[in-house]
Amino acid sequence: MDYDSKHILVIEGGKYINPDIWTVLKEEGYRITVITDTAKALLAIDSQEYDLLFINCELSLLRKEELLHAAGRIRSDIPVIIASANGMDSLMEKAERARSFNFLHEVIGLDSVLVAIHRALEEQGLRRADTFFPQGAANGFRGIITKSPKMLQMLQLIGRLSDVDSTVLITGETGVGKELVARAIHFTGARKNKPFVAINCGALTESLLESELFGHEKGSFTGAFRSKPGKFECAHKGTLFLDEIGEIAPAMQVKLLRALQEKRVEKVGGTHPIDVDVRVISATNQNIKEKVNDHDFRIDLFYRLNVIPIHVPPLRERPEDIPLLMKHFISMHNENLNRKIREVTPRALNQLMDYHWPGNVRELENIVERAFITCEKDVIDRFPIPQSSEDLPPSPPMDARMAVNGDIPFSVARSRLLKNFERAYLQEALGRCEGNVTRTAQKTGINPRTLWRKLKEHGLDPMGFKGGRQR
Ligand SMILES: Nc1ncnc2c1ncn2[C@@H]1O[C@H](COP(=O)(O)OP(=O)(O)OP(=O)(O)O)[C@@H](O)[C@H]1O
Ligand SMILES: [Mg+2]
Repeated sequence: MDYDSKHILVIEGGKYINPDIWTVLKEEGYRITVITDTAKALLAIDSQEYDLLFINCELSLLRKEELLHAAGRIRSDIPVIIASANGMDSLMEKAERARSFNFLHEVIGLDSVLVAIHRALEEQGLRRADTFFPQGAANGFRGIITKSPKMLQMLQLIGRLSDVDSTVLITGETGVGKELVARAIHFTGARKNKPFVAINCGALTESLLESELFGHEKGSFTGAFRSKPGKFECAHKGTLFLDEIGEIAPAMQVKLLRALQEKRVEKVGGTHPIDVDVRVISATNQNIKEKVNDHDFRIDLFYRLNVIPIHVPPLRERPEDIPLLMKHFISMHNENLNRKIREVTPRALNQLMDYHWPGNVRELENIVERAFITCEKDVIDRFPIPQSSEDLPPSPPMDARMAVNGDIPFSVARSRLLKNFERAYLQEALGRCEGNVTRTAQKTGINPRTLWRKLKEHGLDPMGFKGGRQR
């Protein structure tokens, strides 16, 4: 790892560690900024990006807490090392639970300080390597975690979109991260300091949607006690995210198209149009092209929304992301639920790798959270995966490179590969024997009882092979 450009902010009181260390680190190629005044340190944190914060002074609890807060405000993943002689005080305990701080609890020698710094930067580098667009932490946007080539391609496209205002249509199954992608586009673009306003078009009736989008004047309908700005107005200069766009009714499609073309909206019951400057990103988990073909969605609106199409692949098509996201959600839930789960057994990981994830990343997040509830120790050895149903699609093949790149343990990768082979083998064999299980057992040398069990496991129905091929 290259440390040359790493910038360390030291808040120095010469308290526990000999300040000579900073000279040594400078010689090693680090950039070091030493500040002795805590108020100035807070300013420095606000005005510049650092890779590590090192606190080496006696601070009142309040001051330390303020500093940690400031560091977290800039970037939630900036490592903080606090040198301290008094072990775990309450602040440390709290902060350590909240995130992965590195604490040096005692007066220590140069070597261990160096090791701690190297390790903190290394871990942070690793963590960041798979997190894209971590900016915008202050807005609750933590970035997109992935190492899948398909996703990386998509992220490159997002990067290229940062200078333009093009309209984007994001498609993908439920829970794949469409809203996250929309936020990434917003927070990496020129409009990042302006509002990101989201509205779920599928959750509202037609008239409610109209007044939510365009606003209404006082008295324009029963219950409109005061005039209200619409989402378009609220998103002025920023981004409007239209979720579940495939759900909007034909009359609303016309109104929306007009607003986009004219860049102005008219409130319900209003008389003057209002100019709006918004970038529109929409999303759908439906096959919107099919809707266009069926005349359920206006083709002119489709073209206007679909200037840049972005497709987010389902989780089962990027198995290398499963362990990565699992780790991410474990550390997130460790934080939220105040737990310290450190390990997942290969068997449990195997469960995740085998599952077909109809609810995608959101489902993974929920299953990890539920595992926290059922797991009493600090090791997860079972995930509460829903029982497999008969018509599960088989998990896609995983090659050796994908397994290694995805940090998928050998045992898990091998068993996944074997399972896929087993299923394909049984399908072939059943096809040859036209669904006759006894004959299949004889031909393949599999014990009939074992064969029945395996067919059940794979959700294969022999009846479906009556004509030789699966129906
Ligand atoms: N690559 C990722 N890295 C980190 N978190 C992710 C990733 N993808 C999805 N998530 C998380 O999974 C959850 C679901 O994502 P999101 O709401 O963006 O999905 P969606 O496609 O909009 O779903 P729906 O179709 O149900 O609206 C969120 O909590 C989101 O933060
Ligand atoms: Mg969504």
